[in-house]
Amino acid sequence: MKAQIIDGKKISGQIRENIIKEVNDLKKSHGITPGLAVIIVGEDEASCVYVSMKEKACKNVGFYSQVHKLPQNTTQNEIIDLVEKLNKDSKIHGILVQVPLPKGIDENIINSHILPSKDVDGFHAVNSGNLFLGNPSFIPCTPKGIMELIKRTGEDITGKHAVVIGRSNILGKPVSILLLRENATVTICHSKTKDLKSHVTMADIVVAAVGSPNLITGDMIKEGAIIIDAGTRKVNGKLVGDVEFDKAKDKASWITPVPGGVGPMTITMLLENTLKAAKDQCK
Ligand code: GUN
Repeated sequence: MKAQIIDGKKISGQIRENIIKEVNDLKKSHGITPGLAVIIVGEDEASCVYVSMKEKACKNVGFYSQVHKLPQNTTQNEIIDLVEKLNKDSKIHGILVQVPLPKGIDENIINSHILPSKDVDGFHAVNSGNLFLGNPSFIPCTPKGIMELIKRTGEDITGKHAVVIGRSNILGKPVSILLLRENATVTICHSKTKDLKSHVTMADIVVAAVGSPNLITGDMIKEGAIIIDAGTRKVNGKLVGDVEFDKAKDKASWITPVPGGVGPMTITMLLENTLKAAKDQCK
């Protein structure tokens, strides 16, 4: 089988067109411009790139945006003070604290200070709890984007065996819950899993979210599987995923490329969440 490509860039573009229309409507009907504040601490190179992409995406859909770039030696209390100031700022509907944070700063504590209604990352315990309980408000951006990509294939998720590789709070755990909500049978694999191949070969849907180039080799893929590659690593200046794309595409029915698959969806879902926050707050 030769896989069809799930074009995250194209799908993102279509969703962003809709967001632009909704932003214009919101401006006309309520005089409100969705506003996002991003906090970045330190000089992590990849994080700086992501944050500037978020800022640019906001501008392109007509959002108001702020980027707060704080030095590496900022204290936890200083970050919390800024978060609390932004909680009270009526121009700001969404707040995001870019991770990773410098050593010694507890991201869960920081996230617990963001108002759940402004938590567009969906990392606050209230939002993770609501997702777990089956009544999600803000769904973390990358998992939300992955579900959108799978749905756009038109394939029915119900009853399929989904194997998620990775168990992070940001990706593996929430995407597993979202797949479960769509009635998939879900297996979560991680660094202590014995015999990864035996699980992956059984998968109708593979979600790879590790950041380990070519961890999922072509011989592990079941004929006709849907492959979502959320891994990203720079190798010799090139972005590569977790899946051995060239071999996997000959067996899968659908596959995301890296780059151009999951990546563009993350920021698009952030825009969607920020728009939702703005709409909810003007109710
Ligand atoms: N770092 C990498 N991805 C993300 C994300 O989706 N949100 C935040 N806050 N930090 C990240």
